[in-house]
Amino acid sequence: MPRLLVKDTVAAVGQTVVLKGWVHARRDMGKFGFIDLRDRSGIAQVIMIPAELSERGQAAMKDLRSEYCVAIEGVVQARSEKQVNPNMATGTIEILAQDIEILNPAKTPPFEVNADTSGIHEEVRLKYRYLDLRSERMQRNLRLRDTIITFFRTYMHAHDFTEIETPILMKGTPEGSREYLVPSRLHHGTFYVLPQSPQQFKQLCMVAGFERYFQIARCFRDEDQRGDRQPEFTQLDFEMSFVTQEEILQYTEAMFIEMVKTLFPEKRISSTPFPRLTYAESMERYGNDKPDLRKDKHDPNELAFAWVLDFPMFEVDEEGTIAAKHHPFCSIKEEDREKFMQGEDLMHIRANAYDLVLNGYELSSGSIRIHERELQKRIFDLLQISEADQQARFGHMLEAFEYGAPPHGGFAPGIDRIVMLMAGEPNIREVIAFPKTGDARDLMMGAPSDVEKKRLDEAHVQIKQ
Ligand code: AMO
Repeated sequence: MPRLLVKDTVAAVGQTVVLKGWVHARRDMGKFGFIDLRDRSGIAQVIMIPAELSERGQAAMKDLRSEYCVAIEGVVQARSEKQVNPNMATGTIEILAQDIEILNPAKTPPFEVNADTSGIHEEVRLKYRYLDLRSERMQRNLRLRDTIITFFRTYMHAHDFTEIETPILMKGTPEGSREYLVPSRLHHGTFYVLPQSPQQFKQLCMVAGFERYFQIARCFRDEDQRGDRQPEFTQLDFEMSFVTQEEILQYTEAMFIEMVKTLFPEKRISSTPFPRLTYAESMERYGNDKPDLRKDKHDPNELAFAWVLDFPMFEVDEEGTIAAKHHPFCSIKEEDREKFMQGEDLMHIRANAYDLVLNGYELSSGSIRIHERELQKRIFDLLQISEADQQARFGHMLEAFEYGAPPHGGFAPGIDRIVMLMAGEPNIREVIAFPKTGDARDLMMGAPSDVEKKRLDEAHVQIKQ
């Protein structure tokens, strides 16, 4: 008999069915017992009466415990009016078991997965992530993540964007964060890095004439962790040619409004069009560049989006050297072009760079890019990157700009932060299937880990003692 999903039992009263799933809970009532059977679609109550059960079923009934994986054959029965449970999607029925097959027993889990696991010590949850993910909240979060990603993908396609996969093994991108290194086996002493973002590739896709690129892109950054940061995370990365900053803002704003309307009708956007502040205004008024503009910070359904515009092009980094505030591919605001060409007052030169902020989190960053070789070189010069270094690190970009590179710009909303905020979770680990700890470890697999000497030798790597 084919398996029926729990959610479909309600429409199968009177039928003999086979259900497969896990023992969510068991209750013994003396001579008979109940189990709540859980599958991906929901939970249904199964009643076990020995006289109604096969021999195998009777034996199984004695053994069954939480999280056993089982197949149950039985008859779907309508519950009497008194027994209807209005809090359960399948509360109008129960299944009278005739046979129970234990597909796999389960050890006692280290924590109860049929309750909210958010109060359980996180190290334990991460070590047994596959059990944590069985909990209703985590299942809901990851399915929500899938729904949101599907929305974006569909929206991008509907607006003529092409999804293009870009390399994970690449040469360094200068976006400020420390990169993960990957030693090359074939090319002694050389390294790939993992992309901090597909920034250069998406720009090169514009040079290649795609005009509208997007990618649900995995990014890697070896930086200190916070609640809204992970060493690997996902962006809705996109880039457009022949576009103005205003068009990118409008496109993005319409997309987020549509997402909220379609997927979260219970939520309310505080103000549309989204308020716009310059970076300078935001710093002056709120002391930061990601202001929380909610009217009621306790309202879980309030969404306060805001634009922060005109970011400075340059900053002085921790080591006291001049660096690009966003990345070195941003174009300069027309009003500041003069200063830029003169190389004066660098800290007050503004870029065509913008952020989207939501409830005090930076959701996304982007800019209109440089598409001309000479201007790009000028940035590198001002960043005090030597001619030789420019060639070695960015020669491909400079050269690409010499082949009719179109004007272009883009944006990259962080998927993890969006899902976190929509799910009302306090950190992005709650919306990532297998996240890392604060110190970038995978407690379940035990990564990072030692590798055998033989493999280090192959990769031409020697560990410093
Ligand atoms: P940026 O570095 O600002 O821009 O990143 C864009 C968005 O990605 C998310 N994000 C992160 N999410 C989780 N963990 C992290 N460690 C992390 N770092 C960033 C944030 C952030 O707003 N290439 C440019 C985009 C562009 O110019 O188009 C870039 O990556 O939501």
